[in-house]
Amino acid sequence: MSDAFHLRPARTSDVAAIRRLVRPLAEERILLEKEAVAYYESLQEFTVAEDSDGNVIGCGAVHVMWEDIAEVRTLATSAQWRGRGVGKALLDRLLERARDLGVRRVFCLTFEVEFFERGGFEVMADQTAVDPEVYSELLRSTDDGVAEFLDLARVKQNTLGNTRMILELERAGEPAPRGGVERPLSSGFPSDGGT
Ligand SMILES: CC(C)(COP(=O)(O)OP(=O)(O)OC[C@H]1O[C@@H](n2cnc3c(N)ncnc32)[C@H](O)[C@@H]1OP(=O)(O)O)[C@@H](O)C(=O)NCCC(=O)NCCS
Repeated sequence: MSDAFHLRPARTSDVAAIRRLVRPLAEERILLEKEAVAYYESLQEFTVAEDSDGNVIGCGAVHVMWEDIAEVRTLATSAQWRGRGVGKALLDRLLERARDLGVRRVFCLTFEVEFFERGGFEVMADQTAVDPEVYSELLRSTDDGVAEFLDLARVKQNTLGNTRMILELERAGEPAPRGGVERPLSSGFPSDGGT
């Protein structure tokens, strides 16, 4: 099997493949299972990784939650491709997208703590990533990922055992955000390859 893969924005025809990647992980409660319509509706959030034969071998999304915060979600690499840089390449691309969208902080809820730490994420000590005003606004969201972020009872079965992590995006020449991590965090990964 060739090691070559590349990343591209997801297309509607990728939804079936994305669901095939997510389903076994959702059964293990690693990722959140969603209806097909939710994937079509959020398709613009997704990047996919494709092998040299055009098969989707990984996916990931960045979901904006508020003015300065987004979530990396549904990041998955097919079992055969794990440990070959696909996840790292996808994460880098999603963080680039988050920067372009203008957010300062990126959240994730994951069992893959070490993987995200290498990407510069830190385990969240508490809820202080959003101030009380934003928290109360986010409570109006019907999105299960947002509910996970807020640690609401209705998604508790999904969040059990997961770790909540956050990354402050670096921006040259700008002051650190209010209430944020003082130290700028950079990607701990080696330089991109294989994309
Ligand atoms: C998290 C996940 C996406 C990582 O995907 P991946 O493609 O295996 O990630 P990478 O290959 O980029 O990196 C994984 C490891 O392989 C290593 N690696 C990267 N390139 C490598 C290569 N060419 N050869 C060998 N190892 C390599 C990385 O250093 C990393 O090491 P670590 O596990 O000690 O941190 C994958 O494990 C997954 O699908 N998990 C289930 C879903 C999930 O939990 N998603 C996160 C919540 S949204």
